[in-house]
Amino acid sequence: MKAVAQAHTNIALIKYWGKRDEALFLPMNSSLSITLDRFYTTTGVQFCKDLSKDIFMLNGELVNEQELAKMTRFLDIIRNYAGVQEHAIINSTNKVPTAAGFASSASGYAAVAAASTKALGLELGGKELSMLARRGSGSATRSIFGGYVEWQKGEREDGSDSYAKQILGEKEWGLTILSVLLESKCKKVSSREGMKRTVETSPFYSGWLDTVEHDIYSAKEAIRNHDFDQLGKVSEANALKMHATMLGATPPFTYWQSGTLAVMERIQELREEGISAYFTIDAGPNVKVLCMPNDEERVRAALLHMSEVEDIYSCHPGPGITYLPEST
Ligand code: PMV
Repeated sequence: MKAVAQAHTNIALIKYWGKRDEALFLPMNSSLSITLDRFYTTTGVQFCKDLSKDIFMLNGELVNEQELAKMTRFLDIIRNYAGVQEHAIINSTNKVPTAAGFASSASGYAAVAAASTKALGLELGGKELSMLARRGSGSATRSIFGGYVEWQKGEREDGSDSYAKQILGEKEWGLTILSVLLESKCKKVSSREGMKRTVETSPFYSGWLDTVEHDIYSAKEAIRNHDFDQLGKVSEANALKMHATMLGATPPFTYWQSGTLAVMERIQELREEGISAYFTIDAGPNVKVLCMPNDEERVRAALLHMSEVEDIYSCHPGPGITYLPEST
């Protein structure tokens, strides 16, 4: 009744922004991401008959009531799926700078989905695991797979066609993704709340939905042809469109800070100097920069020069779910 799994975070190039079903975590639009080698979560799950509630340890400490409630809600879905009632001890270690605002929910829920179902003796394929991980956090849907991954939004009301698929393996095209750390405050508007407010109130949201399928098409074509500039351009434009929807929301909000804008401008300058680099930003102030491995050192040096930049983590396409020995 115990299993250990490891899952990596991912960065969306074509973003998931907005749910059509809040309970089932069904997205309004399809999305596309790269799973990252550098940031991951390792989680052990053990189901025990004598427990009266779940116990959730993160990085060696018990989590607060709110985090525990979220985990129990997710494990209830797994228990229901497997037809069991036992509570579990969940022991997670995050190799993600969580406090720095780099998302850990993707790797976190993907790892729990994999470890808990394995512990219960279920042998699930990637598609089933991806659908279960989705119920914990939308972005976790994609972290089941390595490399370049698409989450197809699906059409059905029960979510049975809303899961991720690998488009290209992590070893087949070696891009660099520089995770640029700007500051370490926790984000103020959660992605969940931000999406909901945007879908419900922003007049720009329909403009987002109008173009995102075309962006997915263009990104897939670029990945198929290994065309870095095409992928960079569509990714950067897609991130800007997502962030634009928030400015139209009521009340308006943005995840950008002055440092975010400074890095965006610096990347545009680097392009004028002939270096192919593009940015993307999630639901926080930090920026991720895409470049070819040959340009990595030049881009990193240029960004490290900036007073706004605290640190840079160099990432590359990484693997999907792996299972570790139970003694881990
Ligand atoms: O599923 P969440 O709550 O991690 O939301 C993810 C939202 C974005 O990071 C902004 C976009 C994405 O596709 O990952």
